[in-house]
Amino acid sequence: MNSFLSIKDVNNLPALVNDALEIKKNPHAYSDLGRNKSVCLIFLNPSLRTRLSSQKAAFNLGMNAAVLDVGSQGWKLEFADGVVMDSDKAEHIKEAAAVIGSYFDVVAIRAFAKLEDREEDYSEQIIQSFKKYCPAPVVNMESGTGHPLQALADLMTIEEHKTVEKPKVVLTWAPHPRPLPQAVANSFSEWMQAADFDLTITHPNGYELADEFVGNAKVEYDQRKAFKDAEFVYAKNWSSYSDYGKVLSTDRSWMVTAEKMALTNNGKFMHCLPVRRNVIVEDAVIDSENSLVIPEATNRIFSMQAVLKQLLEHLK
Ligand code: CP
Repeated sequence: MNSFLSIKDVNNLPALVNDALEIKKNPHAYSDLGRNKSVCLIFLNPSLRTRLSSQKAAFNLGMNAAVLDVGSQGWKLEFADGVVMDSDKAEHIKEAAAVIGSYFDVVAIRAFAKLEDREEDYSEQIIQSFKKYCPAPVVNMESGTGHPLQALADLMTIEEHKTVEKPKVVLTWAPHPRPLPQAVANSFSEWMQAADFDLTITHPNGYELADEFVGNAKVEYDQRKAFKDAEFVYAKNWSSYSDYGKVLSTDRSWMVTAEKMALTNNGKFMHCLPVRRNVIVEDAVIDSENSLVIPEATNRIFSMQAVLKQLLEHLK
């Protein structure tokens, strides 16, 4: 692996998941691999899990990790080509990425979809610009269209808890007061299908994901029907893709409740966090013994560690 922007960069998915699960058993097994190596974690948006799990993953591999919060610490970046830079953006990505890549062995970036211009977000201008101008390998810590480190952690979690080879997995839209990107849902759909799980996506009308991410998943507009016999229920809010970035519904009847979880096959509840309790999911579900939200978040360390390990091995 020479960069990790999406699932397309993964040559062998079962091997990567297996690597992550093996690393989890012995997190310091490769603590020499990252000696004298360093990673720069660049955040254009807030984070709790991604920031801390990535630092922890780097430390476990013997790497140093530096964090740059572009919003509060760095110069505002310009990404457009050929512009007259007389706005508030003081530094062009061409210089910024080249400089950061000359300081670090790996560069990881978080840059959410802005939800203003679908073409711009789905062109992945920010992360693709880093890839283009940065001499070091680039890792996606959530971009305009995807959150592959989250999806890898989700896949690890399902592998650890499944009771059948190809479990029924349901990705359900749930209400949220603010518009959120489609990135987590997109990657979850992509990775569950790559793992050959039985994926159903359920959401209200108007919340269809882009065709390229829906793939061959079943789409069921009746949430209760979708939950029937599910072994895993993955809740997430996303804003509309067709009416781009808009909140079309805040219908609380889409919240994940204990009564709906009773329709499943003793289904486990998952969410990437942060989650709004009693909006997305009721307390009785997230606090139940079937909730996997904490193990899922813990696996974020090992998804990043497996990716960094493969990148470091490629650098050798
Ligand atoms: N799930 C996730 O990426 O969490 P953070 O936004 O806190 O990093």
